[in-house]
Amino acid sequence: MEEQHGSAKAWGGRFAEPPDRRLEAFNASVTFDVRMAREDIRGSIAHARMLGQQGIIPAADAAELERGLWQILGEVDAGSFSLTIADEDVHTGVERRLREIVGPVTGKLHTGRSRNDQVANDLRLWTKGALLGLMAGVLDLAEALADVAAANPGVTMPGYTHLQRAQPVLLAHHVLAYVAMLERDLDRLDDAYRRADVMALGSGALAGVTYPIDREATRADLGFAAISANSLDAVSDRDFVLDALYACAMIAMHLSRLAEEIILWASAEFRFVELADAFSTGSSIMPQKKNPDVAELARGKTGRVYGNLVALLTVAKGTPLTYNKDFQEDKEALFDSVDTVLATLDVLPPMIRTARWRADRMAEAAIADFSLATDAADLLARRGVPFREAHEVTGKLVASCLTQGKTFADLTEAEWAAAHPVFAEERPPLTAPESLASRDVPGGTAPRRVAAQLAAASDAMLQARNRVASRQAAWSAMMSPGDPVP
Ligand code: ARG
Repeated sequence: MEEQHGSAKAWGGRFAEPPDRRLEAFNASVTFDVRMAREDIRGSIAHARMLGQQGIIPAADAAELERGLWQILGEVDAGSFSLTIADEDVHTGVERRLREIVGPVTGKLHTGRSRNDQVANDLRLWTKGALLGLMAGVLDLAEALADVAAANPGVTMPGYTHLQRAQPVLLAHHVLAYVAMLERDLDRLDDAYRRADVMALGSGALAGVTYPIDREATRADLGFAAISANSLDAVSDRDFVLDALYACAMIAMHLSRLAEEIILWASAEFRFVELADAFSTGSSIMPQKKNPDVAELARGKTGRVYGNLVALLTVAKGTPLTYNKDFQEDKEALFDSVDTVLATLDVLPPMIRTARWRADRMAEAAIADFSLATDAADLLARRGVPFREAHEVTGKLVASCLTQGKTFADLTEAEWAAAHPVFAEERPPLTAPESLASRDVPGGTAPRRVAAQLAAASDAMLQARNRVASRQAAWSAMMSPGDPVP
């Protein structure tokens, strides 16, 4: 790659000296914004087409620019497009390459455009694509969890509060709680998508442009839902990046909670789950060890995803209108959060699908430690005893069992009757299935209610799948040269 000096920079005209190499290294974003090369090129194609259609540049020049730009896009796809620090950023790098292909007509491409609206627009396109990938990943995990629920309909386990056994629940119910979290994540991704789906081109450096551009045509060409309403806001708005970073942070938090349960459940203390060998690791010193590294990393990586959100919030807070170079810091944060969450969403679904759920261990734990005590109190309350009193009576019964080393199942008829006259006539449930069946309210753990939850979640996931697929198809069509010139 040839050395470029100050006069070769996009802004070199008013400079007498070439840039210092330390400035060049510090200033350049090309090492990371090359990831937006396809979006940058496609944005330029739309801009060039519009300039030609509006007669702002000759139609033949626009066609020549478009031809060269598609060629570069092909080079990006083929992995043969390369940039150097001297290119400064992806926008300048693409233009440099375009000049190599189509020559001086390249100079007309930047008519009615600034890198400020260009970079905002590129990042909006990139974010839209990334959000679709995240949606697909979230759906993969939600479907893996829903399949665990579907495959284990009758498996009971202890439900916990304070990590103390509380009341028996269905494993399917527990797992579907994570599906509920992931459904909200999909909603947040959708919301972030809607916010990113606004075209910034046509805002110029900050105040709009002096040419008779057709923003609506460029919007339609690039598949955006709307055009930005205020040019000053458009070149300095990074809210859409923060929305995506927040959605990522929430997903990471949910994945971390799930990972934490897997780590606990895979321990000898619980033994509720056995991870497949293919998704476990060993110890270099302790031959017996089988470690849940995947889950631990899923938990650990949450830190950097939170960090990226806080980093960009902090970058943005001190920036006066409009564009500031500080905004260049948005990309690495976004790329890292998206990469991290996507990688986690790639590995968790197969880990979940290949895990062995220990129904025996869970069922045994489900009714241990007096987790049916609420059912006993509820029986008294249903028979007219005020609930507070029913709670007191049952609590005393638990305490006396504890001192005698007994469980409810060990109590004699006389002992039940002594605890409360109602218990002489009717006994509370002593098995998990009876207890579960009685929690027959919408959202409750009764098997038919859990089946209804699963059906509703499966329905929602199917709809979300279709929505993602049609957006992805529109994206691919927009990005491919077959796209007819409108
Ligand atoms: N690399 C820059 C960024 O990421 C591109 C925009 C540069 N604009 C400018 N006025 N220097 O923000």
